[in-house]
Amino acid sequence: MVTGGQPLNGTIPISGAKNAALKMMCAALLTDQSVYFENAPNSLRDMNSQTELLEYLGCAVKREGHLMAINAGPIDTLTAPYDIVRKMRGSILVLGPLLARFGEAKVSLPGGCAIGTRPVDMHIKALEEMGAEVEIDEGYIHAKAPKGLHGAKILFPKVSVGATENLMMAATLAKGETTLANAAREPEIVDLAACLIKMGAKIRGAGTDTIRIEGVRKLDGAHHFILPDRIETGTYMVAAAMTGGSVRLQNARIEHLSAAIGHLSQTGIDIDQDGQDILVSRDPNTPLKAIDIMTEPHPGFPTDLQAQFMAMLTIAEGAGLVTETIFENRFMHVPELNRMGANITVQGNSAIVRGVEKLKGAEVMATDLRASVALVLAGLVAEGDTTVNRIYHLERGYENIVGKLGDVGAQIRKA
Ligand code: UD1
Repeated sequence: MVTGGQPLNGTIPISGAKNAALKMMCAALLTDQSVYFENAPNSLRDMNSQTELLEYLGCAVKREGHLMAINAGPIDTLTAPYDIVRKMRGSILVLGPLLARFGEAKVSLPGGCAIGTRPVDMHIKALEEMGAEVEIDEGYIHAKAPKGLHGAKILFPKVSVGATENLMMAATLAKGETTLANAAREPEIVDLAACLIKMGAKIRGAGTDTIRIEGVRKLDGAHHFILPDRIETGTYMVAAAMTGGSVRLQNARIEHLSAAIGHLSQTGIDIDQDGQDILVSRDPNTPLKAIDIMTEPHPGFPTDLQAQFMAMLTIAEGAGLVTETIFENRFMHVPELNRMGANITVQGNSAIVRGVEKLKGAEVMATDLRASVALVLAGLVAEGDTTVNRIYHLERGYENIVGKLGDVGAQIRKA
């Protein structure tokens, strides 16, 4: 439950990036040596699901606070079952590593957020181009490459974070060179590549749209410090902007948020950098100005911050246009925000948000991870109490959100 009206002031520590950590856990499947991670986000449902999956496969996973050690030496099975995979789409990322190292993998078609159909056709087609034989059988992707994968020139028809990562990992142990063209350029991909390189992989070009991987015979263990979560950072930047206050986001990476910060500055708030920290402040007497946003693959505006920015626009001066180009069904937060008094109209993949003077607290329903945090943000500025139901969505991706917001002055508690 959130009681609105408090400006946020103080310091929020930023956690390690969930969307990098989940993939690096899969990268540990590529070697029989131990891989150690620092700054792994703690107590997240998605991290627990991935741990459950790796343990099911036979890996030893040790976690202590933000440290994590994975050993995939002995493996019991090459099947990732529906019951675990359905909880989180990130589990499809075991496909490439298992296939590359063991020549076979059977992975349930994934579930995850209800934000669109989210197929995995590009993952499958690209693995086929590397020599895999793939069958879809009773909801499972069954891939075999008894003679191992070979290098290929892959041109993705569409930019996909997951397909880029799955193929980059698979190619590390393939015979010969693989080129991934029209690759995704997200910072999490660069960090995953850095981790793989420490393990002995030969990768060039991560962070550009063409990644070249020269296959090696085997990979070794490594130590890696996971980069800060740019979506968590962006979310708290919006929280500070909306409530009017002054917040220091500790251990963030400003360069990973250029598009979001560019837009946020236009709303009239102040953003500064102090070493590894980002300072965000707004004079509560200066109203936020409406802006237009359109989601795009990195370095464009991230779809994972769309819902949060929309929550902010509900109380900005003027009207803003929000266009979603990555996922076809990512406006499920709109009816819930409207129940709190927002004025949002959806037309196709765009939403017009007309700013209102005040939101009013209400009982609302979280539908996916980022939509649920948008409702929390709205609750921070709404008059009265907002109860967000189904917060398990929130717990998938925000480490200690109640504690972090509470420490900077929000009135928030888990019911
Ligand atoms: C990742 C992130 C997610 C983020 C998204 C886009 C993780 C665990 N999740 O998801 O938070 O919102 O990137 O930045 O890192 N597509 C296909 N066929 C495929 C694969 C994807 O059509 O084989 C489509 C998807 O339906 C979507 C678009 O491509 O419309 C982009 O999806 P993708 O980048 O693959 O997202 P994820 O990796 O699933």
